[in-house]
Order: sequence, then structure tokens, then C-alpha cells
Amino acid sequence: MGDAPYAPLAGRTIVLCITGGIAAYKAPLIVRSLASRGAHVDCILTEAAAQFVTPLSLQSLTGRPIYTRMFPVEHQRSYEIEHISLADKADLVLVAPATANCLARLAHGMADDLVTATVLATKAPVLLCPSMNVNMYEHPATRANLATLRNRGLEILEPEQGFLACGWEGKGRLPEPERIAAEVVRLTSPQDLAGLKILITCGPTCEDIDPVRFITNRSTGKMGAALVEAACLRGAEVTVISGPVALKYAPWARVVDVRSASEMLAAVKEGLDGVDVLIMAAAVADYVPKEYQRRKIKKGRSEMSALELRPSPDILATIKPLKDKRFFVGFAAETDDLKENALEKMKRKGLDMIVANRVGEEGSGFASATNSGILLSADGTQEVFEHVEKTMLAHTILDKIRGAW
Ligand code: CTP
Repeated sequence: MGDAPYAPLAGRTIVLCITGGIAAYKAPLIVRSLASRGAHVDCILTEAAAQFVTPLSLQSLTGRPIYTRMFPVEHQRSYEIEHISLADKADLVLVAPATANCLARLAHGMADDLVTATVLATKAPVLLCPSMNVNMYEHPATRANLATLRNRGLEILEPEQGFLACGWEGKGRLPEPERIAAEVVRLTSPQDLAGLKILITCGPTCEDIDPVRFITNRSTGKMGAALVEAACLRGAEVTVISGPVALKYAPWARVVDVRSASEMLAAVKEGLDGVDVLIMAAAVADYVPKEYQRRKIKKGRSEMSALELRPSPDILATIKPLKDKRFFVGFAAETDDLKENALEKMKRKGLDMIVANRVGEEGSGFASATNSGILLSADGTQEVFEHVEKTMLAHTILDKIRGAW
């Protein structure tokens, strides 16, 4: 497995069309988010947008010419017709922000500036990110224009709720650049997991001792979140059952929050219906307090001799009889005898695949961006990975699942 940085837009050209709303000030950050994922970005600026963000800022970030006019007298590079060459070279045309005026002109098939002409001429997917005053957004004319554009197959990323530059509060904010870039990645990704329903458990569980204290572990949910994002990007329908974590899951997944091992077990049982693949990436507590103390345990004694624990339910072992044709993937967090322990767990828990990762060392396991270990399948295949980014490892795991499914 390679250790190159994850660049899902490498080799892709994204044509970013910026129209004239206040949110145009976010355009340089959108460029950065796309470029950090490996994309080449070409920018088209309308005259109005150039009042909010300068061509020079965008040119400095992209290192490429910025297109502003339909038929420039001084052709920037050649005698190409700009709106056609940009439309042709795009892997995706992104309009962010898309003003109410721009949406209206697009809905009517107009091509009276470089943005509308490029959108009309392209065969690539088009992603519109509307952003405007809430009343303009909710106006029946804008609603109708968006419906027309959606019916024609253009993709629309809804604006967010919040304070708007015009002083109103409501729906109309341009989503954050990272959110827009994530949508671009999804729309340019192969949808090779479309139709697959995947249930993924993530994070630690917390087992309460009293209203103040609990037992947990070092899991942050990073590996699970990488799997959730990768599966969503590739078109799978994903449900996440998550213990308490600080991170945010990919916006396309349905998230069910749980706290304890027994809550996670109940949620997994309920969520299994109609699922094709279960990935148990959660670090489930093995032992839980024997009894929850409703009142805070006071420290008024010099030592506390024992905290009585009982085993928690083993989720995989409990649902083993419900497996049927489903594909089950487990994880094994190990400090020693990685392969032997993982093989034993795969067999005992009735898994089709197990991802054994080393914990307790730098660059692998809990909270780390990378992981090291070995991927073992019930059919006998195995693949070693060393300090591989969790995002990359997630894709490799999904490739294996797809191959075996
Ligand atoms: N797992 C589970 N229920 C538990 C504990 C673990 O379903 N109560 C799942 C984990 O989500 C993981 C796999 O079983 O996919 C292996 O978890 P791991 O913690 O490595 O192993 P344990 O079964 O807990 O065994 P040990 O702690 O002895 O290594």
C-alpha cells in the first residue's frame, strides 16, 4: 500500500465560476480547498464578482489566468473561444456563489456572459451553490428556477442557515469552502459502491460509573470517520453508529449517537435490517461497572478498594447468528502478536475480514492520522500496511469489500 498523500482531485480540472454576491469573498478559500485536494482550478469572474474579489488574488492562488470576459480582444493564451474551451476542459463546473440573478439566467438557458455560456456549453457535471438574502432565496421565482435547474440534472448544494451579510437571519449563507470541496469530490468520484448499504460503528463507548465519572478508551473515531467519508463519496448509503466523539462525520451519512456498549448493541441490532455490509470500527468497552451509582461517589475515605466490573456484551459475537449474507468486517486493536490475535478474532467473531492495527506506538492506532497493521480476509488473503493515511486505508478496505462482495 502506497504512502502518497490523499489527493482525490488529482488530475481534475474544476472551473470555478464566481458571481456577484458578498459570499464571493470566500472564493479564494474555495480555490485553496480544491487545490489542497489536488485539483487544477480555473476561475471565471463576472464583472459584479470582481467588485468583491480581485482577479489578482485568484490568479496568485491558482497560478493561472483568470477569465472575466466572453470575447477578450487580447486573447489570454491563444485564439481559443474561452467559454467553449473552459466548458470542454472542466471535469466539473462549480458556480459559487450562485446569485439569484445567475440562477434565473441559467434557468432560462441564457448565455450572455462567460459564466452562463460555460454552464450551457459544458458536458461536465455542474454544481450550483446558491447564496443570497433569505427573502430572495425563498421567493417563488428563485424556488422555481432551482427546481428547473435540478430537473435538468444540475446539482445544487443548499445554502446554510445563519446570519447573512444583509442583516437578516435565515437560509442563504454559502456553505464553508471545505464543505463545497467535499461535494466536488463526491460528484467527481466513481460511484462504484452505489446501491450498497453500509453500517459503520465508530469511536469509543463510555460506561458511566456515577453522574460524574465514566470508563472509556483512547478511540477518537478517526478511522471510522475515514471509512464513512470514503463510502459516501463512492455512492454507498451509510449509517454511522457512533460513541461520543469530537469529530464531525461526512455530511451525507445518517448518524445515530450512542454512549455505552449496550446502547451500541441495541442500535446495531436495529440498524442491521436491509444492510449489506457491517464495519465494526468502534472500540467497544470490554468491561463496564457492575452497577451505576445514581449518587456521586464521595471521596471521604482514604482509599477505594475496588470498582466492580462485569463484561460488556460482545456486539459481534451477539449478532453473529443474524449475519446471513451480510459482509462483516471487524477491527483488532493489538499491541502484540498482531496477526495471530486478529486471525483468532476473525474466526471467533465470524468475520469475513479483519483490520488488525497496532496500538501503543507513534503513527498508528488511536488519534493518529496514519495506521499500521495487516488486513486479513477469511479467504486467506492478507495485506500489510505501514503508516498509511487512514483516508487511504479506508479506500483500500472498501476496495477489498467490493471485490469480495
Ligand atoms: N467488539 C465488539 N464488542 C465488544 C468488543 C469488541 O463487537 N464488546 C468488536 C470491535 O468493534 C472490533 C472487534 O470486536 O471490531 C475486535 O475488538 P478488540 O477490542 O480488538 O477485541 P476484543 O474482542 O475486545 O478482545 P481483546 O480486548 O481481548 O483484544
